[in-house]
Amino acid sequence: VAAVARDVEVQPIGATFGARISGLDLRDLNTESFDWLRDQFSRSALLVCSGQDMTPDEQVAFASRWGPISRHPYVKPLEGYPDILEVVDPANPIAQNWHQDQTYLEHPPAMTMLLARVLPPAGGDTMFADQHAAFEQLSPGMRQTLRSLRAVHRGTELAAEAGLERVEVERIHPVVIRHPVTGREALFVNTDYTIGIDGWSLGESEAVLDFLYRWSTRPEISCRHVWSPGDFVLWDNLSLVHRVVANAQGPRLLHKVTIATVV
Ligand SMILES: [Fe+2]
Repeated sequence: VAAVARDVEVQPIGATFGARISGLDLRDLNTESFDWLRDQFSRSALLVCSGQDMTPDEQVAFASRWGPISRHPYVKPLEGYPDILEVVDPANPIAQNWHQDQTYLEHPPAMTMLLARVLPPAGGDTMFADQHAAFEQLSPGMRQTLRSLRAVHRGTELAAEAGLERVEVERIHPVVIRHPVTGREALFVNTDYTIGIDGWSLGESEAVLDFLYRWSTRPEISCRHVWSPGDFVLWDNLSLVHRVVANAQGPRLLHKVTIATVV
């Protein structure tokens, strides 16, 4: 930290993941500071950078330092900013379910970033759960069984409404993935997009998936982010599931940018 800036502070958030970073201006990072931040990210999977003041252009410029920005296949972006999505409705059932973003793609995005624009006086928190810990805390026998399974992921009805064919938003992924940067294994199923275990009946799939969803979102491996003005939150979409708590006591607007692969 000393090499980056004397007043940068890092505090852990969850027990197994997450860090809050204060005293760092994301608009203005030299190569050394950015490399430091990237190292923090690969160790923590979730970074909350407080006190940010960014225009949409600055948000896109910062985001594109991580890798190619991924544009959503069927949700309309912010007017004039094809790389930014407006997250406006915390009561949206898709956002309330524990999920990873866009796992129906062949290459689900590596990273998601949210910048607080308008916050309610209370409510509308975002929760995260660690899918590395979820996998690693299973018994060796269960881990071995899960490694042999694949799951089918499918985009929601919004994809069909936007005119996309089912084959464009349906993919099969292993139930356990290996993280491309850290090499750690992670559970990779979620309540929004996983529709079943490949080759299994609905009842068989539900039995296993229901267990995994409960197991992988326990409070012990989760954390809850209570938004403050100026919060810029970035997380690893391959190793964390997330959801909104749908109790916002007023308008809430976040600007979201998604990174296809971290380079
Ligand atoms: Fe999401």
